[in-house]
Amino acid sequence: MTRPAYLPFPPGSQPPYSVARYGSTTKRSPRQPLVALAPTIECAAPVFRPDQLAPDADLSQVAGRAALGERIIVAGRVTDEADRPVANTMIELWQANASGRYHHERDTHDAPLDPNFRGSGRVFTDAAGHYRFVSIKPGAYPWRNHTNAWRPNHIHFSLFGASWGARLVTQMYFPGDPLLELDPIYQAVSDAAARARLVAAFDLELTQPEWALGYRFDIVLRGLHATPLEAP
Ligand SMILES: [Fe+2]
Repeated sequence: MTRPAYLPFPPGSQPPYSVARYGSTTKRSPRQPLVALAPTIECAAPVFRPDQLAPDADLSQVAGRAALGERIIVAGRVTDEADRPVANTMIELWQANASGRYHHERDTHDAPLDPNFRGSGRVFTDAAGHYRFVSIKPGAYPWRNHTNAWRPNHIHFSLFGASWGARLVTQMYFPGDPLLELDPIYQAVSDAAARARLVAAFDLELTQPEWALGYRFDIVLRGLHATPLEAP
């Protein structure tokens, strides 16, 4: 198998493993030099197909009962560093509800759960690399990293891509959020242009009248214009 000709990440375009302002990274970041994977391992990747794992592209309702909050459509294109579509790849999604609460036993934030919002989904890109899902805009939530710490509105994304070397776990943010300037996870990416790639664009073309606001979030796996990882 040939090793993919991945370009190195430009300085500042990806978060460091340990971020002083993001307390828990200092506890879980590597203390030893990293071990390079053999090319055969880096080139391999698990493959998930929609006939094995059913797509769930509508997070905005449970059994036809609508979740509370601002309905949104999120769509975009997944490409590699050569602008080739990453086709038929699985994207896993998870997020807080409109009140800023996760449907998870360890989330103890004093905000209401919504029985009509489970908070996770799964979509696959088509042959041209396009994906689309419907959800509700997640709320901000406190996270105790520092005094009065609040996460900006965000949706978690996980992509496997064509190889382990292209694996991406990241977060999509919303334009104009005042918490972005204060968020150590978002700010862990020091390059401003790279940070901007984590912010979706409001898209009137994608917006459906009387129904939902549209946001476009294109994702590049690996390379010069790669979407940054979330701070580990
Ligand atoms: Fe989150």
